[in-house]
Amino acid sequence: MTEAIAYFQDRTCPYHPPATYQPLRDAGPLTHVTFYDGRRVWAVTGHAQARALLSDQRLSSDRQNPAFPAPFARFAAIRQVRAPLVGVDDPEHNTQRRMLIPSFSVKRIAALRPEIQQIVDGLLDRMLAQGPPAELVSAFALPVPSMVICSLLGVPYADHEFFEGQSRRILQGRTVEEAEDARTRLEEYFDELITHKETNPGEGLLDELIQDQLRAGALNRVDLVRLAMILLVAGHETTANMISLGTFTLLEHPEQLAQLKAREDLMPAAVEELLRFLSIADGVLRVATADIEIGGQVIRADDGVLFPTSLINRDGSAYPAPDELDLGRSARHHVAFGFGIHQCLGQNLARAEMEIALRSLFTRIPDLRLAVPTAEIPFKAGDTLQGMIELPLAW
Ligand code: HEM
Repeated sequence: MTEAIAYFQDRTCPYHPPATYQPLRDAGPLTHVTFYDGRRVWAVTGHAQARALLSDQRLSSDRQNPAFPAPFARFAAIRQVRAPLVGVDDPEHNTQRRMLIPSFSVKRIAALRPEIQQIVDGLLDRMLAQGPPAELVSAFALPVPSMVICSLLGVPYADHEFFEGQSRRILQGRTVEEAEDARTRLEEYFDELITHKETNPGEGLLDELIQDQLRAGALNRVDLVRLAMILLVAGHETTANMISLGTFTLLEHPEQLAQLKAREDLMPAAVEELLRFLSIADGVLRVATADIEIGGQVIRADDGVLFPTSLINRDGSAYPAPDELDLGRSARHHVAFGFGIHQCLGQNLARAEMEIALRSLFTRIPDLRLAVPTAEIPFKAGDTLQGMIELPLAW
């Protein structure tokens, strides 16, 4: 058996997959990588193969399955608790997802746009009044999705420092203890919030779930607490990274940015291309529950399977010149939001937030530029979520 490449490795440029992954692209569409614990798992780099496998019910999302792969030690800890929605298979998954779909429909998100615009405008007013310079992650990229998801769920934004910090420890903590501690604290927080809401109902998705699902016995309390946590964590960290990394990438591609500024109607396509090009959620995982034959190879039951979205979205047979940012191309069918039954529930919301945030930022501050040399800008280490740590900007 040949030695498989270690996964995850750090990006050397924040918007390109590490050059050291090139052998995976060459060996694809189906190859192997090694995780931190020495475990060898399949890596699917082909676009067609990824979409076929992500729609295959023989690949499970059940993190409690002892064979479910863990790319970092902290995942082994999180695996010990049942995660509703993301961590369960159909039919249970379908029942839970149906409870949430109406709140994330195209129509509901379209109705939220004025509120998103108001949040974006308020943050830009403050940034302009205080700057230049400004640090975009803390002043804009993180508060936008954080305020929006709080409003949607009915969570007090005043608690944002607490839950943003704990989310970061879950998503980036390096030890089992750290991830476990953060998860417990967030669960306690939501348990208290839900208890409060039971006697003091407010407006928001959590209040609706208490009223329509918890009281009716369709959802148990532990699942509601964990669902709230998943929605809050998934709803702010991801989009925050897309806004900061998207801004950085556009500033590094001035010709593309000029096209975008000249053509307002390019924005929806530009957002899709940025999602494809940046692939910030770069490690979707599954475990096989039966043997699966694909392209002359056999994924055996209990094998772990990794979907590195950054490589799948740069498969040359799906996208010509895949390593080039081309805002005018049709990047539809990318797998930046995953694919199949677990495809991102919040994608309409994320798209709306990115469009409004990027359009407003570059319209209000047309001469936006990096405040320090590119090499001095810190970005995240190789992980399941990529993005900027800080983005100092001037104008
Ligand atoms: C640009 C931002 C985002 C990216 C790149 C992203 C990416 C993803 C990916 C790749 C998955 C699939 C995971 C899997 O198959 O195992 C996913 C699922 C999910 N996302 Fe997002 N996401 C984003 C924004 C959001 C937002 C704003 C929310 C709002 C609540 C959200 C909520 C969810 C949920 C609940 C799931 C699980 C769905 C299920 O299991 O049925 N995401 N996301």
